[in-house]
Amino acid sequence: MADAGFWVVFEGADGVGKTTQVDLLATYLRSPAGGGREVLVTREPGGTELGVELRQAIMHGDHVAPRAEALLYAADRAHHIATKVRPALESGAVVLQDRYLDSSVVYQGGARGLGDEVERISLWAAEGLLPDLTVVLDMEPDPARMSRDLDRVERETIAKAGQMRRAFLERAALDRGRYAVVDAARDRSAVHADVVDAVVAAMGERAARAADAAAGSGAEPTVEPWGTP
Ligand code: TYD
Repeated sequence: MADAGFWVVFEGADGVGKTTQVDLLATYLRSPAGGGREVLVTREPGGTELGVELRQAIMHGDHVAPRAEALLYAADRAHHIATKVRPALESGAVVLQDRYLDSSVVYQGGARGLGDEVERISLWAAEGLLPDLTVVLDMEPDPARMSRDLDRVERETIAKAGQMRRAFLERAALDRGRYAVVDAARDRSAVHADVVDAVVAAMGERAARAADAAAGSGAEPTVEPWGTP
């Protein structure tokens, strides 16, 4: 593989600006200043044709049993990773993804009370693939959100917004090397600047690890850098 891909996931509560930041970062990375990279922008749920159908099933107007909901997200993830994300990484692209496994851990595992099994199910679904970097866009839950149009999952979990915010931060604290927490309660260009810094640093660290490994310095080899640790 001449130029290994790089995988960045954006996580955080609804309404923190993930989609905006994904788009700004994509524009930057495609530009000469950002290295003129090939960039794939994608999302969960709904990043594939099948995923769009699964997303409709998840957002189903009426109640969905929490375990069924968790399995629908896992099914979307399995298909998305196998048919879109892994091939893009293998072709050397940068993949920018709106939500991944941490959303399942926080929403289904935490807010829905399903616990640790959710992470195992998600990892199984995704064949253990973990991103190079997860950017957690963090801000105080915004009460104004409560009056906006919410999807079924948001409606049913918004009362736990504070708990979910803490859960994302706890995930990030567990593995500082693979996460960056960015204060999202600022204007979009300030947030974007921090996101770029975090991504450039993570790309540099991975390149340095790969160079160390190649030089036989004893550093851990990274066969598939985005693979399971
Ligand atoms: P998202 O596409 O981010 O919402 P929006 O279209 O409003 O930006 O996510 C849809 C909902 O799915 C959101 O409420 C978060 C929830 N979700 C989970 O509960 N678990 C998951 O694993 C994922 C990926 C999303």
